[in-house]
Amino acid sequence: MYDYLIVGAGLFGAVFAHEATKRGKKCLVIDKRSHIGGNVYTEKIDEINVHKYGAHIFHTNDKKIWDYVNQFAEFNRFTNAPIANYKGEIYNLPFNMNTFNKLWGVITPEDAKKKIEEQKKTAGITEPKNLEEQAISLVGIDLYKKLIKGYTEKQWGRPANELPKFIIKRLPVRYTYDNNYFNDKYQGIPIGGYTAIIEKMLKKCDIRLNTDFFQNRDELEKEANKIVFTGMIDEFYKYRFGVLEYRSLNFDNEILDVENYQGNAVVNYTDRETPYTRIIEHKHFEFGKQEKTVITKEYPKEWKKGDEPYYPINNERNNELYRRYKELANKEENVIFGGRLANYKYYDMHQVIASALKSVKEEFGV
Ligand code: FDA
Repeated sequence: MYDYLIVGAGLFGAVFAHEATKRGKKCLVIDKRSHIGGNVYTEKIDEINVHKYGAHIFHTNDKKIWDYVNQFAEFNRFTNAPIANYKGEIYNLPFNMNTFNKLWGVITPEDAKKKIEEQKKTAGITEPKNLEEQAISLVGIDLYKKLIKGYTEKQWGRPANELPKFIIKRLPVRYTYDNNYFNDKYQGIPIGGYTAIIEKMLKKCDIRLNTDFFQNRDELEKEANKIVFTGMIDEFYKYRFGVLEYRSLNFDNEILDVENYQGNAVVNYTDRETPYTRIIEHKHFEFGKQEKTVITKEYPKEWKKGDEPYYPINNERNNELYRRYKELANKEENVIFGGRLANYKYYDMHQVIASALKSVKEEFGV
């Protein structure tokens, strides 16, 4: 008999499992996929660690979380500095002095500020009604047209003037020549990939892959005193109130016979016509010098039941639905719900680790 059945070998499940085994508990970890790691899974292809479920850059401001994750791996000095390709024109992201210089020729922060203000004034939007108006009211028409519109429409599969404005609450604008995407104090990529971290976390657990909880629920429930569930909360309750919606993605990997394909780990394609939103060149996460390269094109797509759920759509309908499922979850005595699917929430890695450690504290008191 196990103390815990942990459904999902992603970051939440792995952190919980690690902490539970450290406290002498017996854990069985299952995953319906053929590998551990959930969405942070990396796989070695031609000596390159490939982020199989999209680019994963670890960043946090929290020293405790940084120290926590560093016990499982050494991190390199990778800094995320993505670039945007708009019909062959290259711009730096996030919007900063390099972007403004390329766009308008301005050199000083003062001139850039003036230009943005001028653009906002020309647009004359005081009460934005949709995403398009919201974005224009925040940064003006030029940035919107070249760097926001096409990318956002591809991401969400709808015209920007039909998208709700809450998707863009703010657009970070920086008046320095700093291309570092994140503002956090700590950032990097684990040398050797993320899968090695999860392996270490799960070292003392029994693991069963290709095992879907819902295919064998009754039997599995009998194997442990408690369940830690990191799958979809609506599926756990047999969709009794309805289905929570997501956006999905397709990842198209290619191995190329060139040493360096695009000169950067992440290049966003911000026009509407290119069907993918970005190309990832994985070797650049670890400053690789291999003879070949692996690239991944990321295609956003509609989600339907059975597809991989990537981004929760936190609109009013879904949030209300989630609230009802959460009410049921709160009444469970022997099930702990955690992670992005059970909490129906977009978490970055540092946030999911923090949330798992919080559950550990609630469960074990220390
Ligand atoms: P995760 O999905 O990883 O794990 C859940 C596991 O449960 C999965 O392995 C699944 O197969 C399994 N499961 C589900 N149902 C099951 C069932 N019925 N039976 C058995 N197993 C089941 N974060 C960040 O900090 N920096 C970044 O750069 C990025 N980049 C990024 C890109 C993209 C495209 C996405 C979608 C996400 C990111 N993230 C990110 C976020 C990061 O991926 C996220 O924080 C963690 O993967 C969340 O870990 P979880 O354990 O919550 O879920």
